[in-house]
Amino acid sequence: MKKRIQQTETAHSSTPDDISIEPRQPEFDFSGVSKYWLRDPFTSHFMNALSIVVPHSERTVIDIVRKYADNISDAKLVRDMDALIRQEGRHTLMHLRCNDLLTKCGYPAVRLFERFQRFFVSILRKISPPAWELAIPASFEHFTSAISREFIVNQAFWVGDKSNAAIDFSNWHALEELEHQAVCFDVFAALEKRTWLLTLSLLFIWMPSILVSVYGVQLYFLLKDGILLKRKNWRPYLKFIFQSLPILTRGAFKYFNKGYLPWSKKDIDIYRSQKQKIQNIIS
Ligand SMILES: [Fe+2]
Ligand SMILES: [Fe+2]
Repeated sequence: MKKRIQQTETAHSSTPDDISIEPRQPEFDFSGVSKYWLRDPFTSHFMNALSIVVPHSERTVIDIVRKYADNISDAKLVRDMDALIRQEGRHTLMHLRCNDLLTKCGYPAVRLFERFQRFFVSILRKISPPAWELAIPASFEHFTSAISREFIVNQAFWVGDKSNAAIDFSNWHALEELEHQAVCFDVFAALEKRTWLLTLSLLFIWMPSILVSVYGVQLYFLLKDGILLKRKNWRPYLKFIFQSLPILTRGAFKYFNKGYLPWSKKDIDIYRSQKQKIQNIIS
């Protein structure tokens, strides 16, 4: 099946030449971090829910990028893919550490959810033709770059006046997600001309899946903590859903644009200022 995939004439890396995808290995000590490590229970449990989803998603990205690596001949894109794999490997390890601590706070259903996620993704991969399988990492990276951009740009909304190792970790992860944001799209575009398939993949599979997963796990955490058993919390909860929904639902139609490239001038500015801001964490 893999052999039938051929590179298109436009196959190349679209990551700007002056952005280098660097696998870094910063260390974080999460031992003193509480489960409400962001501004409030809503922002914290939204990011905690994402953290639960991340390890298997990043492993899937690594696995699919590796699977199709032999079909890519552009030397820069091959280097980008290798760097992305090494970055994602490190992210996964750190998220697993966070998730272990979170599980110890008393959320037994998390393990059930993780098993379901593995089952769901493996079934989809089994029945997907190559183009749809290649759309999986590109779709996942669509979300991680959108969430990262949001976390960097609207940091006050998420963090409030908090400061801890999990925030440092998120800032580092967000930087690297922006850094390698183009790689999975480039791999997809290198092997499949119909980039609009990404729009369909997002609209019909991955947007509904991520909405149900992230808001579902967040709801479970908030109910288990008793936060949503208090009527006074319903309004801020609904307000948070309304404010965060666009992060996970916008941008799908950009893949209909034949000349679409992931990096914009604004992204480069956001990336550079974030890199400067967290220099002490990544150096
Ligand atoms: Fe990552
Ligand atoms: Fe990523």
